[in-house]
Amino acid sequence: MGRGWRPLVVGAIVVIATFVLARLTVFEPSAPTVAGTAGGDVYRGQVVFERECSSCHGQGGEGGSPGPRLIDTGLAAAEVIATIEQGRGVMPRGLTSGQEQADAVAYVVSISRP
Ligand code: HEC
Repeated sequence: MGRGWRPLVVGAIVVIATFVLARLTVFEPSAPTVAGTAGGDVYRGQVVFERECSSCHGQGGEGGSPGPRLIDTGLAAAEVIATIEQGRGVMPRGLTSGQEQADAVAYVVSISRP
């Protein structure tokens, strides 16, 4: 057997490596993820927050009227989800839902981490 098979082996390795790297998506910037907020995107959540929540909680959740400050509060995703879905005091329930809710939760958890 001659050396004719070598380019084939090299070609196969290149093809396999390409698929493996594509699966690992090492070259793609990954969206920040927060524990317990599966599927939530912090950046999109910020947009939702400024639209739906900042009128009470202040820009960036720094606190406003009548909404309390959400920064550095150490809120867990489950607490934020429960608050959005059930409402709290004068805060009406159901301000967001679905993907936008998941995004908003991811954002609130990200700013609430001390
Ligand atoms: C109408 C004003 C208003 C809006 C709009 C509003 N909130 Fe609130 N929110 C409040 C008030 C007031 C409280 C405190 C209620 C209480 O404890 O009596 C609160 C409490 C919370 C809490 C609990 C804070 C803690 O420390 O336990 C979270 C989390 C929260 N809001 C998230 C959100 C999110 C996310 C949005 C947007 C989807 C939002 N809020 C929109 C008024 C508002």
